[in-house]
Amino acid sequence: MASRNMRVLVVGATGSIGQLVVEEAIKQGHAVRALVRSASKARQLAREAESVVGDLTRPETLSAAVDGIDAIVFTHGRMEEARRRPRLSITEACATS
Ligand SMILES: NC(=O)c1ccc[n+]([C@@H]2O[C@H](COP(=O)([O-])OP(=O)(O)OC[C@H]3O[C@@H](n4cnc5c(N)ncnc54)[C@H](OP(=O)(O)O)[C@@H]3O)[C@@H](O)[C@H]2O)c1
Repeated sequence: MASRNMRVLVVGATGSIGQLVVEEAIKQGHAVRALVRSASKARQLAREAESVVGDLTRPETLSAAVDGIDAIVFTHGRMEEARRRPRLSITEACATS
């Protein structure tokens, strides 16, 4: 099956899993946007990745992150955190962008 290049948002991009996702998505030809909590942390990412500063606990920061995105890879933090409010916040941002 032919693959389609997508605009992919990686949540948790500066984490141990997220950094691997960013690298692999770029390698596969996707346009990668990384959600980062601070601009300084973005420096550790591949330079091909676009960075957007935002925080899952601040829904007002997420609209810019999801704007124009085809897919989201969610590698945020610990499982117990991921089950709470942050996942809902990004779903709401997608619905309103
Ligand atoms: N590592 C493993 O071997 C492994 C194995 C199986 C499953 N997992 C699961 O995979 C997921 C990621 O694991 P990981 O090891 O990559 O975790 P990690 O290294 O702790 O990375 C967590 C990422 O989430 C970001 N983050 C945390 N709170 C955030 C918030 N409020 N808003 C935006 N971003 C936030 C962190 O940003 P900062 O850099 O700013 O802190 C970081 O980029 C977890 O659910 C874990 O349970 C991991």
